[in-house]
Formats: sequence, structure tokens, C-alpha cells
Amino acid sequence: MTPQLSSWWRNAAIYQVYPRSFQDTNGDGEGDLRGVISQLDYLKSLGIDAIWLSPFYTSPNNDGGYDVANPRDVDPRFGTLSDAEELIRAAHSKGLKIIVDIVPNHFSTEHEWFKEALANPPGSQARSRFHFYDGRGESGEIPPNNWCSIFGGPAWSRVTESDGTPGQWYLHLFDSTQADLNWENSDVHEDFEKTLRFWLDKGVDGFRIDVAHGLAKEEILKDHRDPEGLTRALRLDVSDMPRDERESLLSDVPFFDREGVHEIYRQWRKVFDSYSGERMSVAEAWVHPSSRATRYVRSDELHQIFNFDFLIAEWNAEFLRSAIDKTLNEVSEVQAPPTWVLCNHDSPRLVSRLGGGDLGAKKARAMALLTHALPGGIYIYQGEELGLEDANLPDEVRQDPVFFRTKGADKGRDGARVPIPWRADDENFGFTTGKPWLPMPRQWSDMAVDSQTQESGSFLHLYRKSLSIRAKHPALKQKNSIDVSSEISWIPTQAGVLAFERKPGFTLIANCNDFSCDVEISGEILLASQPGVTQKDGVTTLPAHTTCWINTSH
Ligand code: GLC
Ligand code: CA
Repeated sequence: MTPQLSSWWRNAAIYQVYPRSFQDTNGDGEGDLRGVISQLDYLKSLGIDAIWLSPFYTSPNNDGGYDVANPRDVDPRFGTLSDAEELIRAAHSKGLKIIVDIVPNHFSTEHEWFKEALANPPGSQARSRFHFYDGRGESGEIPPNNWCSIFGGPAWSRVTESDGTPGQWYLHLFDSTQADLNWENSDVHEDFEKTLRFWLDKGVDGFRIDVAHGLAKEEILKDHRDPEGLTRALRLDVSDMPRDERESLLSDVPFFDREGVHEIYRQWRKVFDSYSGERMSVAEAWVHPSSRATRYVRSDELHQIFNFDFLIAEWNAEFLRSAIDKTLNEVSEVQAPPTWVLCNHDSPRLVSRLGGGDLGAKKARAMALLTHALPGGIYIYQGEELGLEDANLPDEVRQDPVFFRTKGADKGRDGARVPIPWRADDENFGFTTGKPWLPMPRQWSDMAVDSQTQESGSFLHLYRKSLSIRAKHPALKQKNSIDVSSEISWIPTQAGVLAFERKPGFTLIANCNDFSCDVEISGEILLASQPGVTQKDGVTTLPAHTTCWINTSH
């Protein structure tokens, strides 16, 4: 099928809402769908095209809702199904698209299927929807293989059979309450197709596919040579691991990026294409080497895959340039558009990752302008536009299973999931009238949306301006070119400085050095990540850690 180059999602700005932390409307301390509805004007004012909602389905919420007990209903903590319908309607009426999460690798152990599996004997059809196996050892006390959970600890848990005896083991690559589904079982295929259609019928514009590379498993009864090393490599906890070793571990993971996943997405694509209105899908798939990622976005599979190169990138000119080139070249081969992600609910916030404080904020602003000028789609995580940092949380309030399963060795992801500060002077910054589910830092008044709205140099203003220019400038808006790698031309400059041109008439300069630099390019300055960019005699001078956008059409 020839790609439709004018499709909305090819260069959309998509904003991730983590509903639990966005806006509470009933005072229970947790955000809800009515809260998202109440902030649609804010979202619209950012200049985004679409909202991606992290899961709001029925769930015991052991992993922030990524432990789904019923994918076709709304958890009471978030509201009702009719709230979801109203949200979709209200967003559409403002010209915003809605993308929902789908979690096909596992179900919560509270899903009725899992309960049925427990109530039925080993070998039953009900058990075969998951990965149930007998244990090894004399009385089955050793797990079927030695795999580790990505969240720490073993990847298997043992159940108690209905007669009260210790029984079989089931596989869970994540928390023990997230049982991996067996995609060899046709019930699983049918049920997910039902879920896709359920939300497509309700009008959603797309899906973000959780752990999209995990569905097919191989060698399930074989031990891995280094399961703990593998888990560390997958969690990027590899500071003391030799590079070769890491490469070798990641290049062959028996439960990720197996050939079998692609057939699933070919089926799903047929479902998406059978609906009107350009429904899309974006895969969360960490694959290695990254060139394998393009296999997920072949023209009969998914539409986008998150490119996580920037999610772990330092503010370093050489690294960024090579990441950009590599990404553009790779996706060009399959004629898919690239995506760019600076942070999400699983990663440290951008400012924190870049060192925190004023310097971290400076680098984050410069990084955002670099990202917003690239061809393809961009993803913005709620609070990124406010320049929030990770909150320092006391261990007692942490809720992420990663914290518990690693016995505190990994603090987990709660620091990046603290609720959004809306109004500087309100209780809990206007997030809730109750007690926020995670405490909000006292010093966030200046970061609140209303404070930043009033301050012309704020992060929020920078994002609003960049998204607005991005949507209008002829060089940045929808390009419709089949080969995205041809959309930017690098301009040679000095070390630590990046400069590229996009036609017609747009040039970006990014100074990643910690000193100011003169660059022989000039034109009307459209936007700069810091004050103090000056021009004289055809030379632009950029302060340290600054990106600027220049109109070069005249
Ligand atoms: C994805 C989600 C993450 C979740 C995990 C297990 O990586 O983004 O939040 O914990 O899958 O579902
Ligand atoms: Ca609530």
C-alpha cells in the first residue's frame, strides 16, 4: 500500500496525559477523565494535534493502570464509560484527536480470564490463555525457567491450586499481578480485536501499543545464560557492563522482538484500515539494534514507533546529530515518518535528566527547540511544557512496583508522575481539593500554569510559540515527502554547534557548548530558547546552551 503522505499523524504534536496526575474533579486526590475534559481548552491552547491518554481502564492499579482487568470499561477512579465518550466527543469538537493505550502483553491477575485460569486445572483451555507451566525440581518448586522480571525479582509466580496444594507457575515479565498473555491462543487475538473495535467504534483516532515488542515468546522452557544481566541491560542500568556484553545480551532476547509479533500487527492494521478517518497506531517497542524498529512500521504494520534515542540523550551536539541522521535514514527506508520523545511516564523528566536546576532547564529548553524543528511526529509528556523536574519523594509515599520489586535499589518512576500544578495560589496548586496521591513540591508555585501564563519568558510560552510556528512555517508544517532524510540539510559549523536548514527558509542553530559561539548565518530570529541571541554583519551570536530558529527566506 502506498503511504498517504498527507495523513495527520505523520507530523503531529501529540501530548501524553497521565490521567491520574492531570486534574482531579471530585476531591479524591486522583485525576480523572472529567478533569481532562475540564482542561481541554488548556490543551488546545498549547497548539497540539492529539492527546494520548495513559490507561484509564478497570484496574487494581498496581502498575499505574498498565495492569488491566477490563480493557473495555473505565475504572471508577477515573470515572465512567460515558465520561470517556464525552471526552472523545469534546476533544473532537475542539479539533483534537484522541489516542488511547492498549496493553496486549499482559492482563491483570484480577481479569476474569485469570480467575478462570485459577479455577481450572493445569492443561485447560482457560490456562492456555496465559503462560502456565509446571515447575522444575522434585515437587515443582523451581520456576520453569530462570528469567527475571523487568521490574526486578523472578518472572514467575506459583499459584495455589483449588485443592490448596502448591501448583503451576505463570509468567509475568513485569509485576506479579501482570500475567503475560499467550498469543498462540486464538482467544487472545479475538479479544484484542474486540477491544480495538470497541474503542474505534467510540471514535478514538489511534492506539499507543504498550510493550509492543513483547507479545511473542520463544524458548520459554529454556534458561537464559544471564537473566539478571539481561534485565539490567533492558532497564538501561548498565554503567558497569562492558559494551560488547550489553550488545550481545540485547541482540537476542527470547521474549522481545520475536518474528511472531509482526503477524499480529498485520492483522491489526487491517482492522485500523477498515475504519474511516485515518486511525493510527504507535508502538512502544525497545528493540536492538534500533534499525530493527523500522520492521514495526512497514506499510502493512503499525504507523509509528517511538524513537527513544532522545529519551536518553545528553545535550551533546555530536550525539544528537548522529541520532538524528540515524533515525531519518532508518525510517526513510520504509517511508515511515520519525517520532521524537524527550520524556514520558517511565523516564526521568527532561530537566532532571539534563542535570536539573537552571542549567538543566536551559539545556531542556534548547533541546525542546531542536526537537520541535525536526521532521516527523513529536510526543510531549504532561508537565514537560512547564519544565517540571522530578519530585524528591520520601520512600513511604512511593507506589511504583519497580521500587518494591527491587527492594528500593531502583526508586522507580513516581518522581516523574507527580500531579500537575495549575494555579500557584490554590490548595495543591489547583490539582485537587483533597490529598494528592503523590505529594506536590511546595516550591512549584512559579511552575504553575497560571504563573507561567503571565511570564513571557516561561517554559510554557516557549512551547506554545514553538508549536505554533511549527504548525505554520512552510518549512516545518506537513511536508508530504516520501524521504524524510532529505528534509534537513546540515550546515557545517564549529564543534559543539548544530545547524541545519529546512526548505523553504528555515534555519536552526543549536549551541551545545558552555560558552557563547558566533555562527555565520543570519536572518529574522523567529524564536530562541534563551534571551541574548544577537546578530551583526551576517553573524549570529548564541549564548551557551541555546537553540534559535531563524527565518532565512529573504
Ligand atoms: C510500559 C509502560 C509502563 C508499564 C510497562 C508494563 O513500558 O509504559 O508504564 O509499567 O509497560 O505494562
Ligand atoms: Ca478524582
